[in-house]
Amino acid sequence: AEEYKNIIVTGGCGFIGSNFVHYVVKNHPETHVTVLDKLTYAGNPANIEGLPKDRVELVVGDICDSELLDRIVPGHDAIVHYAAESHNDNSIANPDPFVQTNIVGTYRLLEAVRKYDVRYHHVSTDEVYGDLALDEPRRFRPDDPYKPSSPYSSSKASSDLLVRAWTRTYGLRTTISNCSNNYGPYQHVEKFIPRQITNIIDGVRPKLYGDGKNVRDWIHTEDHSSGVWDILTKGRMGETYLIGADGERSNIDVLRAILERMGRDADDFDWVRDRPGHDRRYAIDNTKLVEELGWKPRHTNFSEGLDQTIAWYREHEDWWRPAKEATEAKYAKQGQ
Ligand code: NAD
Ligand code: DAU
Repeated sequence: AEEYKNIIVTGGCGFIGSNFVHYVVKNHPETHVTVLDKLTYAGNPANIEGLPKDRVELVVGDICDSELLDRIVPGHDAIVHYAAESHNDNSIANPDPFVQTNIVGTYRLLEAVRKYDVRYHHVSTDEVYGDLALDEPRRFRPDDPYKPSSPYSSSKASSDLLVRAWTRTYGLRTTISNCSNNYGPYQHVEKFIPRQITNIIDGVRPKLYGDGKNVRDWIHTEDHSSGVWDILTKGRMGETYLIGADGERSNIDVLRAILERMGRDADDFDWVRDRPGHDRRYAIDNTKLVEELGWKPRHTNFSEGLDQTIAWYREHEDWWRPAKEATEAKYAKQGQ
């Protein structure tokens, strides 16, 4: 396995990026992390507070800023790129920052990677493959055609295609991972699981889109981190790996599990307006990652993971409270 001593983690103050920074600090003491983050509404420096100063440095800035990249990329041996606009509902309301950050931002990073010859790992989503029918036996595989549905997923798909083309044309050392739905600590209250947990804490009824039968393939964010690390250090250059932990569940099942675990009636929620273009089902076939790199998820008990996540939000009200009101006001305007 390749050793990387000085890595840049873009978006390291967001949900999954900050969990990855914690994972590296805990498991790979030889690696120093420079976090590059713009601190948008979704970025919170508190997510990486308390980590040793000699292991983690925060640079506040935009991945679209090529002069900034010229200053910080030299001296690093790898970039792990998490920074993105990440929320589908926001992308439907205003796609502009999605095109800017997800597409132009990735382009600027690739140009810096080309100029300074650093290893690059691109973090992406299973949504690039579109959706599956509920009764379809098929799951997503790395070579499936791209068929994104939303402004968010099409901007991520575009960024993946830039990576593939820059790799082939300029011979960059890159890998891509497409992961399924993450859950765990530090997830923004706009996302499904934290939104419902914090609604219940606030005595507000959870909100379920459409008929509630849409399926997501849930993975604990720490398992996503170990997958990215394995691909960064052992993956074959130019390859795409899918990260998923066989966690398919319908939204209504997840919501009822949260309600029951928080001592509420299983029907104590509201049906709300469906998301336009709402993908029906995602499902990952992780064979390549498991067989080639020997990766294994550790958090395979979803109920246990959910209990830990509920406990985390109960214990960290100071962390999520400041974002809650504005998030719900935005949803209320959309009838959601
Ligand atoms: P998030 O919205 O919680 O965090 C995004 C972070 O990126 C924030 O800290 C934000 O400040 C930063 N950022 C945004 N624009 C930036 C810019 N122009 N320059 C620098 N920093 C900027 O997102 P997340 O849910 O943690 O997702 C992280 C990555 O993982 C994204 O690339 C996303 O597409 C991908 N992903 C997410 C999931 C999921 O379930 N959430 C699943 C698969 C893949
Ligand atoms: O599949 C990976 C993707 O997972 C990532 O690429 C995205 O960054 C991440 O946000 C997530 O996308 P989803 O759209 O699947 O996640 P979200 O949490 O927004 O919604 C999950 C499901 O729950 C989806 O079917 C919509 C539904 N939903 C969501 C909210 C916020 C509700 O029913 N009610 C809600 O209040």
